[in-house]
Amino acid sequence: MLTTRTMAHRIDGKAFAAGIGGEVAKAVHRLRQEYGVTPGLAVVLVGNDPASEVYVRNKARQTVSAGMQSFEHRLEASAGEGEIRALIAGLNADERVHGILVQLPLPAHVDAEAILGAIDPAKDVDGFHPLNVGLTASGQKALVPCTPLGCLMLLRDLHGDLSGRHAVVIGRSNIVGKPMAQLLLRSNCTVTIAHSRSENLPDLCRRADILIAAVGRPEMVKADWVKPGATVIDVGINRIAAGEGKTRLVGDVDFAAVSEVAGAATPVPGGVGPMTIACLLANTLNACCRSLGIPVNADLTP
Ligand code: GUN
Repeated sequence: MLTTRTMAHRIDGKAFAAGIGGEVAKAVHRLRQEYGVTPGLAVVLVGNDPASEVYVRNKARQTVSAGMQSFEHRLEASAGEGEIRALIAGLNADERVHGILVQLPLPAHVDAEAILGAIDPAKDVDGFHPLNVGLTASGQKALVPCTPLGCLMLLRDLHGDLSGRHAVVIGRSNIVGKPMAQLLLRSNCTVTIAHSRSENLPDLCRRADILIAAVGRPEMVKADWVKPGATVIDVGINRIAAGEGKTRLVGDVDFAAVSEVAGAATPVPGGVGPMTIACLLANTLNACCRSLGIPVNADLTP
């Protein structure tokens, strides 16, 4: 018997993120014309982790492209907690700064939770401050972490209403897994959070209508972990050896194989990654609007 196999829809996060960037840029232009205010984002980098350097450069470039002000602050890897806190206190008080992001990971000697808790919650565009974590968990208005917000936007664009769908999130980090589960729950999904200690992980994943992989293990999710027709969102960014001294980026999902089974899937690169920065710009715009007491763009919030 001849069977026809259709490949999964390839979700184009790059194009979607460019659309959000365009919306943000238009809103920034209007803010400047009507209120004489330019949204500003401050990024703090402690030390010189090469991956963090790349992220911070990209963030600064796209912030400026959207017409916002970018403030970059670099501290030595040896910087103490007092020095970082003093910098944050200055940014909290600076009227030109509407969003503050402290790039993670911080050096091991720094208490990251204490630093994140020192950011003014109204400027916490990463959504990592305990107040924003709590507001998100209880379904209230909050600044929401950028990567899960980007995933949610992609899912809403693809499916519209997510009510009743079974979402399985692999990974329980504070940056992605936990807030992702909260946002899906808020969208009326049935949510399972799986992690490295979960038993029968492939079985759990096969029950998902929506599968979110955020574990940091290269190509861990195989084709036979995926329910036919499911939507697969890959948050992983893993650099692996590609022979002859070269490297390449892969996600947590074996994209080529999974594409033969899934209904839709995000590639790496070009899937979730660009959405994270787009949502950071949207959060900065929203933080600025809230500080002025003007309505935020509902399309750019959860
Ligand atoms: N490092 C990896 N992802 C993130 C993120 O979303 N925000 C910050 N601040 N640091 C990160």
